[in-house]
Amino acid sequence: MEFTKEMELARRMVEDRLTSFFPGGGLEEAMRYSLLAGGKRIRPILTMKFCQAAGGTPEEALDFGCGIEMLHTYSLIHDDLPCMDNDDLRRGKPTNHKLYGECVATLAGDALQAAAFHTVLSAAGTWRHGGQMAKGLAAEILAEAAGVGGMCGGQYWDTLGDGQPRTLEELTEINDKKTGALLRAACKMGVAASLGCREVDAACMEAAQEYATHLGLAFQIRDDMLDVEGSAADFGKPIGSDAANGKVTYVTLLGLEECGRRVLQYTEQAKAALERGVWQGDPAFLRQLADSLAQRRT
Ligand code: IPE
Ligand code: IPE
Ligand code: MG
Ligand code: MG
Ligand code: MG
Repeated sequence: MEFTKEMELARRMVEDRLTSFFPGGGLEEAMRYSLLAGGKRIRPILTMKFCQAAGGTPEEALDFGCGIEMLHTYSLIHDDLPCMDNDDLRRGKPTNHKLYGECVATLAGDALQAAAFHTVLSAAGTWRHGGQMAKGLAAEILAEAAGVGGMCGGQYWDTLGDGQPRTLEELTEINDKKTGALLRAACKMGVAASLGCREVDAACMEAAQEYATHLGLAFQIRDDMLDVEGSAADFGKPIGSDAANGKVTYVTLLGLEECGRRVLQYTEQAKAALERGVWQGDPAFLRQLADSLAQRRT
């Protein structure tokens, strides 16, 4: 199937499933607002496509994907708060706190995080192989990625000491945590979801880990580039937010041109990492996805 069509099908599957969560009013309304505000749905698509490449079906991985999308959405709501990046626009719409206030936005993020784990742990499916249970494994992967050694730890270092000089190595470590960790979890949870058809393959898990690590670094550099040269209409976020917050980014350290080169380099490394896996399905889509993200404007 043509890449754009396959991407659209996967995206629609995620959208349809996400609309079934949080139908109520009050706090649920605020959670639903950000969760269904659009967004590329890259993480759940990675989860489903890694599951497929490892021999499973996209359906088996759908609720793991929805879990990671909830966790990601919580991280965005909190990232936009005045105490963090203080941004007004997200996914082309007013940020959660602009609409519902800081208190509700904080709680909506908190509740989405809990819902993420609930969704993973109550996913329907019979995956079990050699005593391993896909849900437990996926929840463990997600917890590790979300916490102090992953996204939250990265966000801590990212916001702490804004305006202070940083080396390229420090910045790479921060980006790997704040952005790479959740992308890694998305890919690894996909491999975990393939437990229905066979034991988790160590080579596939390693390939997923390596692919996502390089994809994550490319993804954050591209994000920092678009914060300078993008258009708010496409990007769905304010342009110039990093500069307004005095952030040191790859762009401030290396300039746009060198950033463009590094995005392509990391993308090639991500694609090459797939060679390590012993796949039962075809990982071609994952290569095309990496290429398309390197060129993204959204
Ligand atoms: C934005 O992630 C936050 C970063 C890690 C740079 P995405 O670019 O995936 O945001 P959505 O989900 O499409 O809105
Ligand atoms: C933060 O990076 C990534 C998160 C963990 C939310 P940014 O602060 O650059 O993300 P955007 O640009 O606001 O999406
Ligand atoms: Mg931020
Ligand atoms: Mg931000
Ligand atoms: Mg950004």
